[in-house]
Amino acid sequence: MESAKTLMRDSEFEFIRGLVYERSRISLGPDKRELVSARLGKRLRATNAPSLGAYCELLQSPGAEEELGNLIDAISTNHTFFFREQAHFDFLRQTILPEMSARARIERWPRFHVWSAACSSGEEPYSIAMTLAGALPTWPWHIEATDISRRILARATAAIYPEEPVARLPAEVVKAHFQRGYGPQEGFYRIKPALRDRVDFHHLNLLEGEPRFTEPFQVIFCRNVMIYFDRPTQEELVQRLARRLVPGGYLLVGHSESLTHIRHGLRMVRPAIYQKPPGS
Ligand SMILES: C[S@@+](CC[C@H](N)C(=O)[O-])C[C@H]1O[C@@H](n2cnc3c(N)ncnc32)[C@H](O)[C@@H]1O
Repeated sequence: MESAKTLMRDSEFEFIRGLVYERSRISLGPDKRELVSARLGKRLRATNAPSLGAYCELLQSPGAEEELGNLIDAISTNHTFFFREQAHFDFLRQTILPEMSARARIERWPRFHVWSAACSSGEEPYSIAMTLAGALPTWPWHIEATDISRRILARATAAIYPEEPVARLPAEVVKAHFQRGYGPQEGFYRIKPALRDRVDFHHLNLLEGEPRFTEPFQVIFCRNVMIYFDRPTQEELVQRLARRLVPGGYLLVGHSESLTHIRHGLRMVRPAIYQKPPGS
């Protein structure tokens, strides 16, 4: 079968581009054409569509909702790993936790509440959980984790990871937080229930409506997702996230996602770490 890449017409690229933008606000520039072609090849095979034209028609047919989700999944990347951008976890432990613990009683916060806003397969929220476990002995804590992809959320909820990335973590972390698989699960590790219970996964398109949580957050991780959005979308998103923070709360973004050119009202504490002004 000829590849989708060879067959992709300008009109088809424009159609896919428009649809992806409308659904997820992921902004696909002309430089992403090859990537789109390559990723759509899989969807053509999965849906048995004989050509890209046929696949575009399928996307417009009634009942295409599920395939639209698969399309967004195929286009966006879920790449992540445990303790990605370690500096954020160090800052959480060394600066944010002592600062927020000191304020907790005065502010009457019931718990330390963290949001992992594009959590992918769970490595990010579980890394946060591993950082908080033991560091907050007397103050309850909880993590909300959201993503647009239902497929990836199912993996995050299962919390089962191959041995290779787990083996790269310090032995004491693995011992404390992972169960080793045996028999058919040989070669895999699962996050222990005590940690899994601290993380709730929810489906959420960050650009469509508001999450249902009402309790504000001391910290929001929104990392390596804004890079796909255009500047107005980033600006709107950062402003919405900031409203969810307690005064003095922190927003952590990916290290390649500078907020320099957008209006947000947050104070840059260090690269990729922003704070909502206390008292705001
Ligand atoms: C590259 S991963 C980042 C994972 C993690 N935050 C990290 O930094 O390792 C990007 C994630 O953003 C999700 N995503 C893309 N567009 C989204 C949207 N509009 N709303 C919510 N999640 C989205 C993707 O499904 C993917 O899991």
